[in-house]
Amino acid sequence: MPLVSMRQLLDEAAKGGYGVGAFNVNDMEQIQAIMMAAKETKSPVIVQASRGARQFAEDLYLFRLIQAAAELNPDIPIAMHQDHGNSFETCKSAIALGYTSVMMDGSLKEDGKTPSSFEENVDVTRRVVDYAHERGVTVEGEIGVLGGVEDGHGAGGSGLDHITDPDQAVEFAERTGVDALAIAIGTSHGAYKFTKKPDGSVLKMDVLIAIHKRLPNTHLVMHGSSSVPKDLQDIVNQYGGKLKETWGVPVEEIQLGIRNGVRKINVDTDNRLAITGAIRKVLWTQPEKFDPRDYMKPAREAMKKVVAARMTEFGQAGHAGDYKPIAITDIAKGYADGSLTTQPLVAAK
Ligand code: G3H
Ligand code: 13P
Ligand code: ZN
Repeated sequence: MPLVSMRQLLDEAAKGGYGVGAFNVNDMEQIQAIMMAAKETKSPVIVQASRGARQFAEDLYLFRLIQAAAELNPDIPIAMHQDHGNSFETCKSAIALGYTSVMMDGSLKEDGKTPSSFEENVDVTRRVVDYAHERGVTVEGEIGVLGGVEDGHGAGGSGLDHITDPDQAVEFAERTGVDALAIAIGTSHGAYKFTKKPDGSVLKMDVLIAIHKRLPNTHLVMHGSSSVPKDLQDIVNQYGGKLKETWGVPVEEIQLGIRNGVRKINVDTDNRLAITGAIRKVLWTQPEKFDPRDYMKPAREAMKKVVAARMTEFGQAGHAGDYKPIAITDIAKGYADGSLTTQPLVAAK
């Protein structure tokens, strides 16, 4: 199956009332792990690459691997997404490669660190939407700022510093025409999100619900949504790792989000933990091993297990065969003739 539009994939998820995990990739084994899980659970899937991933793997290697995944898995809808694009140029280059979706993260300036103004965010996101939609490519925007820093990306600080204002979310959706809207509700990228199991004082599900009430048809996106399970932390630490005690986003909170308009859930850290734990275990318990396959294979398997679990928990499992992909050129026509709406339905306060 050719790569599909993320807009189509999310519209279908909305119809079916489920969420879709968006898993970060940097290399072949991670792509294979996702495809193994998608095949096993019969799930449509979003594969995403950050700027750091594109640099690490080199654009063409990574994109050709995704094309191989699509060719080898003709029954699985796959959207290829640019995660946290920092500028118009980054999004343009992803579209030139063949990505079917881009995130223009205009919540931060181009340096990927400094929070931008609302007007700057609207301006750059709107420009990306115009350019991408003409080419049938989906756009995710972000309003509000997440906490933490990953690979140099992020404003730092706590997830509570820049929680999304629901009125701004409405205005942002109306003025940009984004297909999906990432919001800040207290989560952060990376392993250190919360110092104890989060409650409503730090994980603002009430804000998410308020935004969904105002924008009932908008596909919401939760970033920083790894659950950082204790068992994965323990494996890393059991075999020489030094992770400090930490909590992530409980799966049941994500499921509450899915019942309230969340259609895309970003997960990277859980997979990083699974991979690192599996590799540590082999190298610690069998120090005589030196063939990378001896630790990459269990690492791939450990990531597959996490991804398959999330696919089931988010509800995307079993939905791979629900629909046929719409050609990206037809998606472009849909944006042009208005059959694919870009104006959100806004409910009164
Ligand atoms: O946005 C955060 C993702 O976990 C990607 O992280 O920029 O280190 O590749 P990265
Ligand atoms: P985690 O660090 O919680 O996995 O978040 C990943 C993410 O939001 C990627 O954009
Ligand atoms: Zn993110």
